Amino acid sequence: MSQRTTYRNSAVYREGWYLNARDQRAVSRGSPHGHQVVAGNWSVNEFEMLRRAWRAGANVPYPVERTDDGVLMEYVGDASRAAPRLVNAGLSGDALHAARDQLLDNVAQLTGAQIVHADLSVYNLLWWDGRLVLIDFPQAVDATTNPSAAELLYRDLSNVADWFGRRGARIDVETAFAELVVDLVY
Ligand SMILES: Nc1ncnc2c1ncn2[C@@H]1O[C@H](COP(=O)(O)OP(=O)(O)OP(=O)(O)O)[C@@H](O)[C@H]1O
Ligand SMILES: [Mg+2]
Repeated sequence: MSQRTTYRNSAVYREGWYLNARDQRAVSRGSPHGHQVVAGNWSVNEFEMLRRAWRAGANVPYPVERTDDGVLMEYVGDASRAAPRLVNAGLSGDALHAARDQLLDNVAQLTGAQIVHADLSVYNLLWWDGRLVLIDFPQAVDATTNPSAAELLYRDLSNVADWFGRRGARIDVETAFAELVVDLVY
């Protein structure tokens, strides 16, 4: 939580957002209206990114609607429990390799739709019924308008590669990045 709060304070994720001149000035000044604009836009961004990701075929919770507090989305799990986060799913062997492969496929679906998650980690991946689900999109960026998209993609891949690598499911960050970055349109 605190980690993403730090992320959210960074302007890097907002680089591609369209704001009218008044809102833009308020955000730059850090006025109360500016803070309100930023707060409201995280959920606008989350809903839009989930919608695009879902349409592109990525395995994300189906976004139902935007609400006053955020985004209402499909629940992953069943009546007895919510899907565990990957970090708590206790995978090893074939299942772990399947999770790694699904992750790279899903990231490719995202880059194909000009989306970079920008907070990818094993805490923002769920594992349910043999399938990996990507969550937590408020800070995701649109690669067509955010000049930091490639850098964020590289960081995303590095973040998950460490965890998978330590468990024997290697991700070659340089190769994966080289393959995916060409999807991003500038
Ligand atoms: N669609 C979903 N279905 C089931 N569980 C979910 C879903 N979305 C989120 N969760 C659960 O809620 C937790 C927090 O979600 P998310 O990562 O989107 O928010 P967050 O702001 O990062 O919160 P936190 O810092 O507490 O993880 C997830 O780790 C997961 O356990
Ligand atoms: Mg999270």
